[in-house]
Amino acid sequence: MPTVSSSTSDSYMNNRFVSFPFRAAGLICGLIGWLSGAALPAQTPAGTATNIDTVIPLSTLELGQMLQEFASPQANRSVQGRFMQISGQRYTNGVGTHARSVLWVDLHGTARRFNALVGIDDEVVSPIVQRELRHAYDTGLDEYRLVNGRVVFQIYGDGRLLWKSRQLQTAMPAEPVDVDLTGVQTMVLVVSSMGDAVNYDDADWADARFTVRGAAPKTIPPPREEPYLLTPKPAATPRINGAAVFGVRPGAPFLFTIAATGEGPLRYSAPSLPRGLHLDAATGRITGKLDRRGEWRVPVEVRNARGVARRDLRIVCGDTLALTPPMGWNTWNVFGREPTEARVRAAADAMVASGLIGHGWTYVNIDDCWQHQHSSKNPQVQGPGRDSAGRILPNQRFPDMKAICDYLHARGLKAGIYSSPGMYTCAGYTGSFQHEALDARQYADWGFDYLKYDWCYNTHTAPDVSLQSQRAAWQTMAQALLATHRDIVFSLSETLDVWPWARDAGANCWRTTGDITDTWSSMDDIGFSQNGREIVAGPGHWNDCDMFVVGKLGGGRLHSTRLSPDELYTHISLWCLLASPLLIGCDMTQMDDFTLNLLTNDEVLEVNQDPLGRQAHRVSKDENVEVWAKTMADGSQAVGLFNRGEFAAPVTVRWKELDLPADQPVVVRDLWPQRDLGAVAEAFTATVPRHGVRLIRIKPTRRP
Ligand code: GLA
Repeated sequence: MPTVSSSTSDSYMNNRFVSFPFRAAGLICGLIGWLSGAALPAQTPAGTATNIDTVIPLSTLELGQMLQEFASPQANRSVQGRFMQISGQRYTNGVGTHARSVLWVDLHGTARRFNALVGIDDEVVSPIVQRELRHAYDTGLDEYRLVNGRVVFQIYGDGRLLWKSRQLQTAMPAEPVDVDLTGVQTMVLVVSSMGDAVNYDDADWADARFTVRGAAPKTIPPPREEPYLLTPKPAATPRINGAAVFGVRPGAPFLFTIAATGEGPLRYSAPSLPRGLHLDAATGRITGKLDRRGEWRVPVEVRNARGVARRDLRIVCGDTLALTPPMGWNTWNVFGREPTEARVRAAADAMVASGLIGHGWTYVNIDDCWQHQHSSKNPQVQGPGRDSAGRILPNQRFPDMKAICDYLHARGLKAGIYSSPGMYTCAGYTGSFQHEALDARQYADWGFDYLKYDWCYNTHTAPDVSLQSQRAAWQTMAQALLATHRDIVFSLSETLDVWPWARDAGANCWRTTGDITDTWSSMDDIGFSQNGREIVAGPGHWNDCDMFVVGKLGGGRLHSTRLSPDELYTHISLWCLLASPLLIGCDMTQMDDFTLNLLTNDEVLEVNQDPLGRQAHRVSKDENVEVWAKTMADGSQAVGLFNRGEFAAPVTVRWKELDLPADQPVVVRDLWPQRDLGAVAEAFTATVPRHGVRLIRIKPTRRP
């Protein structure tokens, strides 16, 4: 077997950047700036000639380009709009921001120095606590280590780290910055949060100013690459995709669609199905019912004129559903408070017509707002919550719930619904409070297969919002679902930490974060904060990182996701490694080639659907680069090499970090392009673009 050395340059990411011409642009702008500075002295704020240094405060630049995790940047104020103060010292000038914060500045090569005083703004604690913390810091008290609010400020010039603060915490004195910018074209100001989430990370670039000889610095948007496709087109020969293991309870209606690609028509066969199950040879749908508990390994075949694919399907009839993370779609991120029956049917049609179904995508889930809202003035949703028998009533946008479920099942898909343990749902529609058993029966009678059960309304209304009382509420619904005749996957939606016990409360999956939005900071913060939770993940119980913010999303008007292509590759790769339920959040009737390409990479999805059910953990972290790994059922490991930083960077994974002997060669497969990279000794290095990923699968080779 050939041994290739670790790769640092074989990057498929290299060719497809829209060349971001900041260097060239910088030079030209610099020249123009210099010329215009000379010709139009009024444009240089303080000086009148370009051989005179002018001082330009950072706060006078257009700050709308500053990306940050929370709120918006403030000129001459703290991020919360107060006066700027670090460790008791007030500043009248500067920029208040919040980690993670990134600002790109075009310097045109005319800047000479950047000076500032940086630190965490005192506003994160009360004046009394400020004093106590300052004392704790000054006297080196141990408790000080526990203080929230920790950041590091960084300054990059043309991709190189020029300066970095130490880790700054609340009440620490401001750290002075004095950076030589001679010859630098593009500068990036970064404030990173330090592993304790971004809470209390109100960060000040106090008294921040450029010394410039020539044109004034100008803030610019970060570079954004054009969409580029990595997933190869599916082969004409058949391939079996999706889950290879399926859990069902005895007596419950069985529906499993064999996901497969290949030139149609495809013919499916599975001759040794257990008694009670039937396969439709034309659609690949297995239906029926299993009366007894047990486990079957069923060989499945899919044929077409070009060939045949074979794979075993493991059917487990017992107590556990969702033996692999659920894959599907949800109305909320695109239709918000206006889901309708027509939109749900159209989504189902799109899931089939786009071919997503052939890659394992299954659930079509109705989120909030299908019920009545008692206080609404809109006749379409206004009405009584329940009928005289206490049964929950859908609003006029959902005239026939059973018909929707039948429609989905007839296409081999599954149906999801939404409720809350409160009187009302998060959006104020009828909730299940004190009607849990009735509602569960109703969902089952309609034909639903998945329930998202959302706490948030209760945060304002429940007499006791402790996690303990929540647990009882979740358990009540879990029991109610169990008592029905259907298999209904139970998914908790709660942003507090339910993950340590949600499985014992009867849940199949549970949110671990707030609502995701289609921004880098939201996705990045959610995805990379999951380390440690892998201890509770496994077949039948999954940490849920919220929906995929891909494609066309709602939230006001329909817009394309604000994530860049590299950020989207990171998003999908990370969610797959994390074994999160995968729920598409976009308008599936309007998916472009790139979005579809992202969602149909079977080797990437296989990382998510692996039957061992492990969730990846962080293997290493060095500044902005991280390596995450997930052990797969066949003994291989899926490994993500991530770059959360602002510039392309090499990322390395060493085999010994994965508990493999350093001298044992492993075979590396590049998962997005589905390409073998051969046997690699000791370590693998890839150049990973800004906010991007390299996702590989490695398999140890036998020793000679
Ligand atoms: C919460 C959930 C969202 C969505 C809305 C519906 O915010 O986290 O995913 O279900 O409620 O109101």
